Amino acid sequence: MKVCIVGASGKLGKYMVQHALDRGYEVVGVCRESSVGKLDAFKGRITTIPGATNDPAVIKLAVAGCDGVLTVLVPWGVKQYSSGTAQAVLDHAPPGARLVFSCGWHITRDGSDVYSWKFKALVKIFGWVARITRFADLEDQVEACRRVFASDTRWTVVRASDLEEGESQGLPVWSRHVGDSILESNITRRVDFALFMVAALENDALIHEAPAIVGCKTPSALAHAAAGRAGT
Ligand SMILES: NC(=O)c1ccc[n+]([C@@H]2O[C@H](COP(=O)([O-])OP(=O)(O)OC[C@H]3O[C@@H](n4cnc5c(N)ncnc54)[C@H](OP(=O)(O)O)[C@@H]3O)[C@@H](O)[C@H]2O)c1
Repeated sequence: MKVCIVGASGKLGKYMVQHALDRGYEVVGVCRESSVGKLDAFKGRITTIPGATNDPAVIKLAVAGCDGVLTVLVPWGVKQYSSGTAQAVLDHAPPGARLVFSCGWHITRDGSDVYSWKFKALVKIFGWVARITRFADLEDQVEACRRVFASDTRWTVVRASDLEEGESQGLPVWSRHVGDSILESNITRRVDFALFMVAALENDALIHEAPAIVGCKTPSALAHAAAGRAGT
């Protein structure tokens, strides 16, 4: 299995590189030229392609011959970085490749997610401040996911809860809609978010799904598991 990791030098990206290598995959990582040094720990074990992740020429080169592409979608800047990155991957990934994209709970696929007032307020305030300071454009991440959902590729969009660092607890659990009780704890270890992304490459049940994830050891996940056991 040959996989490309777009955004390999970030926190999520580096965890995904490690998980992919642990599985014996051949790894190609794409990151900004200034961030190549962040991948020094993997020197000699991965191929690094420096460049902007929304540059179609960079992505075309990086995804050639890949069976899977893991893409970190980030809303940074106001130059359509997120949608440009998604579009480049959609346009150039080999036909039939498994495409897995990262984002947060704020993305909705079908409008049936139920958000708390606090979550909605945070997204609104962050989105507004980020846009006027030209720091980030949340709407562009929404547009990136809209294009993925509309594509005829073999996609999965993984929507993460709040994140924390720490040792792996195992594969996160997921649900189709934010607001489902299993997700209530709203926290996932970043290393396990990466594990879910990499595991999705070989899980065809996740094709054309936008799973919202939460840590498998969180109170809401454990309560859900206990209720399932009680019901059997
Ligand atoms: N942070 C959270 O609490 C949270 C919660 C839910 C979901 N998520 C999702 O998780 C994924 C990873 O996010 P993360 O917060 O954990 O960060 P991260 O893994 O560190 O990723 C940040 C990425 O953004 C790139 N980047 C940083 N500044 C940039 C800029 N000015 N222009 C272009 N690229 C830039 C980084 O590349 P360099 O290495 O080159 O800097 C890196 O690839 C995203 O899809 C995010 O939507 C995050």
